[in-house]
Amino acid sequence: MQHIKQYVNENKQRLLDELFELLRFPSVSADPKYKPDVLKTADYVAQKLRDAGADNVEVCPTAGYPIVYGEKIIDASKPTVLVYGHYDVQPADPLELWKTPPFEPTIRDGKIYARGACDDKGQFYMHVKAFELMMQTNTLPCNIKFMIEGEEEVGSSNLGIFVKQNKNKLKADVVLISDTSMISMEHPSLETGLRGLSYLEVEVTGPNRDLHSGVYGGAVANPATILAKMIASLHDENNHIAIPGFYDDVIELTAAERTALNNAPYNEEEYKKDLEVDELWGEKGYTTFERTGTRPTLEVNGIWGGYIGEGAKTVLPSKAHAKISMRLVPNQTSDKITELFTKHFLSIAPANVKIKVTPHHGGEPAVTPTDSIAYRAAQKAIAESFGKEPIPTRGGGSIPIVALFEAELGLKTVLMGFGLDSDALHSPNEKYDIFNYYKGIETIPLFHKHFAALSE
Ligand code: BES
Ligand code: MN
Ligand code: MN
Repeated sequence: MQHIKQYVNENKQRLLDELFELLRFPSVSADPKYKPDVLKTADYVAQKLRDAGADNVEVCPTAGYPIVYGEKIIDASKPTVLVYGHYDVQPADPLELWKTPPFEPTIRDGKIYARGACDDKGQFYMHVKAFELMMQTNTLPCNIKFMIEGEEEVGSSNLGIFVKQNKNKLKADVVLISDTSMISMEHPSLETGLRGLSYLEVEVTGPNRDLHSGVYGGAVANPATILAKMIASLHDENNHIAIPGFYDDVIELTAAERTALNNAPYNEEEYKKDLEVDELWGEKGYTTFERTGTRPTLEVNGIWGGYIGEGAKTVLPSKAHAKISMRLVPNQTSDKITELFTKHFLSIAPANVKIKVTPHHGGEPAVTPTDSIAYRAAQKAIAESFGKEPIPTRGGGSIPIVALFEAELGLKTVLMGFGLDSDALHSPNEKYDIFNYYKGIETIPLFHKHFAALSE
């Protein structure tokens, strides 16, 4: 532990400067406008892996953005940890809500503000620097492989292909990912599950053109009104999802599992205060932790149609649209849920409109074991660096590749995230505490140490 603290202390400023350099690349995978920047980011990450001491570093091309690979094999008889992360980020919109520009990282109050600060540049880069630390201090206790992709925020479909085609290269004993949250620094925790995702877009078409809302309004169905009604009907009065068959495959938690989950510290007043809402909302009969971690949900991510420009235009729109996502839990599957949604949505449409449902990406839920050597290593690492045992939680977000690692490579994952839910991932003013960044760099080598020792 002493050599770790000393290394971080002696390199404090540089460790931060390099992260800032990484954060300045606007590597938005969703928007083709940023293609050159995303590609430059991949090269930067590859160079940093080389500088840190990785061998066989490659920027592997795919049909989309490249995957950065690197490895250090010290001894074939030692265990191998596959570190996964993503160098792409979400779009920064709405720009006007950022206090400082999203790609000009700025420190305020001990926190780094930038798109990607927490999700996932700040977090995966901790692994690159922890690796450098282990190389420089001659303490790398196991083999390590890095796979840092550039399409996580758009569904990782090319990574899925890469994994299937490179099973040998990716051979490992466990996957280690820092791309999730902790409860707080006072209550360190480890996520033990991720939800799956089914994402689609709906289009409701009424008349063949936008109409004068005075001339035709009242005589022709308004697709925006119809869409609003259809969407509203997707939850019942208890906020259960009203799609037939939706819950059929859901695995209910045992009473003991529910109790354990709800034992984690939770302050509803603070939760509401942070979001400036007076009341929470959710499926009747479940707590907030259960609603976000162990229950499936349905959300409208965007809804539009008709005139949305300046001032007023009297128009009855021809079309209305919405982007809808459903978060899934074991044993739901995204294909089946997409199908159930589509069938139901078509069935509830009145005859005065036409409906089109277009699926986007999906992903399967995953739960990670809590009785494995790797999980124990993560527990020990956190206990050693935080002075407290981590609390197991179930995360609400999705990292679709985790289920694929298991299906294709037979690999289990450890989710050792150091972010906070309040770090504003995907929102304006995303941040990452400098403290968490250094803490992560200090904790990761301890994971490798314990994993190697426990594997003996
Ligand atoms: N890092 C997040 C997922 C996450 C965040 C998990 C917080 C647990 C806690 C990841 O980058 C992400 O945002 N994933 C997307 C899914 C993807 C298919 C677009 C998500 O969850 O919306
Ligand atoms: Mn992420
Ligand atoms: Mn994300």
